[in-house]
Amino acid sequence: MRLVIAIDGPAASGKGTLSQKIAAHYGLKHLDTGLSYRAVAKALLDKGLTLDDEDIAAQTAKAVDLGAMKREELAVHAIGEAASKIAVMPRVRQALVEKQREFASLAGGAVLDGRDIGTVVCPDAPVKLYVSASPEVRAKRRFHEILARGNEADEAQILADIKVRDERDMGRSDSPLKPAKDAHLLDTSKMTIEAAFEAAKNIIDVVAIKN
Ligand code: DC
Repeated sequence: MRLVIAIDGPAASGKGTLSQKIAAHYGLKHLDTGLSYRAVAKALLDKGLTLDDEDIAAQTAKAVDLGAMKREELAVHAIGEAASKIAVMPRVRQALVEKQREFASLAGGAVLDGRDIGTVVCPDAPVKLYVSASPEVRAKRRFHEILARGNEADEAQILADIKVRDERDMGRSDSPLKPAKDAHLLDTSKMTIEAAFEAAKNIIDVVAIKN
């Protein structure tokens, strides 16, 4: 079965964890496309280059190797912020979308998660999920994640950051974050990750049976 599952949603919506669980359950490869934008941002920051030059950022995007991205190195908050800034540039997006589509065309199918998978990267995906939760719930989850790792955090600051990030990701003119017309909406505000996974499985199984 060649199943492509497109999962989109805002920062800290739980789409990453959900995507990993779905990929493991269906035996599919998984690509967190946010990491590719983060890899571009990190490469620019490491070289002390500006985040404002589309030529340089697009060249950097072309050199990204999806197979070599390391989640641990890219998880830093400042890299996420920088990624959201370079993600507004059409030529950066073009370079990364090309690589992401190649990944999606792998035999056996794949799970891709990001902001524009159902709308731009894989508009023909047979399963599209849009995972959301209120900004307050997302901030609280992020806050507890950070505390659980033994670090300090300021919940009000996290909430403010999430709102800024949402505005940038949803407000950009190229490939803004929004649900595809045929996406299944999954509001996880009042769900545990297990409940969200069960809901996602019910949606996916219906499609998988038909294919
Ligand atoms: O999901 P994340 O926090 O790792 O994503 C970091 C930034 O990358 C996000 O704020 C916007 C950008 N991004 C994007 O524009 N399109 C995607 N498909 C994935 C991420």
